[in-house]
Amino acid sequence: MKEKERELVRFGVSMPQDLIERFDRVIAEQGYGNRSEAIRDLVRKELLQPERLPAASAVAGTVVIVYDHHVSDLSKQLTELQHDYHHDIISTMHVHLNHDQCLEIVVVKGAYGRLFRMTEAIRVLRGVTYAELSVSHIEGEGGGHAHGHGHSHGQG
Ligand code: NI
Repeated sequence: MKEKERELVRFGVSMPQDLIERFDRVIAEQGYGNRSEAIRDLVRKELLQPERLPAASAVAGTVVIVYDHHVSDLSKQLTELQHDYHHDIISTMHVHLNHDQCLEIVVVKGAYGRLFRMTEAIRVLRGVTYAELSVSHIEGEGGGHAHGHGHSHGQG
């Protein structure tokens, strides 16, 4: 296995001149010595995207939400949604950014598929300008039921 990992395969990539110039500047700032290592890291990062995780993967992370609390019913809708997913939500932090905007950081732990659906449900609400799920796979935990006690994960 190790031998296969180390075997390097060369391939050509065509890119517009301005794109590769910008890329070279960025990777130089980051300290990369050459394009190959930078592109390898980009590929690894892409393959580790949570979207590639199976829906049942046990994950933990955050949902960051920015919204306008003046939009009617939105605060209530967000609260109800979070209650629907209360088994998956560990904590919520609310910051009043300015007169209109609120930032909410929701700490979540559960099955990736459920957390993804929750984030999508939040994103489509009118008045929500940003909703992003960011998670890491929890090593050694298979399904969504890592903890011992039984409870149903039914959605309201
Ligand atoms: Ni607020």
